[in-house]
Amino acid sequence: MKIFYEELAPWWPLLSPVEDYAAEAAEFIRIIEEKFPAARTMLELGSGGGHNAFYLKRRFAMTLTDLSKEMLRVSGRINPECRHMEGDMRTLDLGGTFDVVFAHDAIDYMTTETDLRAVMAAARRHLEPGGLAMFVPDHVKERYSPETSCGGTDGEGRRALRCLEWTMAPDPGETAGVTHYCFLVREADGSTRFLHESHPFGLFPRETWVRLLEQTGFSVETVEERTLEERTPRLIFLGRKI
Ligand SMILES: C[S@@+](CC[C@H](N)C(=O)[O-])C[C@H]1O[C@@H](n2cnc3c(N)ncnc32)[C@H](O)[C@@H]1O
Repeated sequence: MKIFYEELAPWWPLLSPVEDYAAEAAEFIRIIEEKFPAARTMLELGSGGGHNAFYLKRRFAMTLTDLSKEMLRVSGRINPECRHMEGDMRTLDLGGTFDVVFAHDAIDYMTTETDLRAVMAAARRHLEPGGLAMFVPDHVKERYSPETSCGGTDGEGRRALRCLEWTMAPDPGETAGVTHYCFLVREADGSTRFLHESHPFGLFPRETWVRLLEQTGFSVETVEERTLEERTPRLIFLGRKI
């Protein structure tokens, strides 16, 4: 992940513009307000460039955590009022608790049941009894099909970036697929360079999410997001700490 989340971290705002997160962040807030209206504090695991947090912080006092110092630095520019901490979502232990622990697309980097279980345990140790864990994987196995997409935008001057993303399903019986990212970066001086990186992603059936959350000590509810985007709506896994 060195290319995407270290070398190209400063390009995150062009790759995945913050405006694209407004609608989904509003949907996450709507769901949390319905399930836990008194929630005030939130810990985000794998907060990346802080684009969801940019909207969530208007409703919650946010602590943002990520494996990548460079992504945290990018987030710090648009979310200076949030606390930023480096840490692996599987082993994080901040020694405090929050009303909500939230993991968005970064949870897709968990490719085994052991990893997922570790993140759920980390979420649980950062919650008071009754606190809410919210997991938003991009896909569950039942709704997944391989896809190809293009993205990227233009920045100031000649700076610009384009990306091709190509996901490949796990082999039968496996829980890890592969996403290939091809980046074409145009620097301020107009020169271009090409970078390629492949990332594993985890893909689990709904039953696995529910079973692991229950085994970790949560009462579980699954909700389908409401979205106007042209894609299969995501399943959101909510765990209430017992
Ligand atoms: C697609 S980005 C997240 C973007 C984020 N949703 C946003 O709103 O900007 C995925 C992030 O997951 C982080 N990540 C991957 N594995 C991780 C782990 N084990 N613990 C914490 N963060 C992790 C990466 O460093 C990267 O910043």
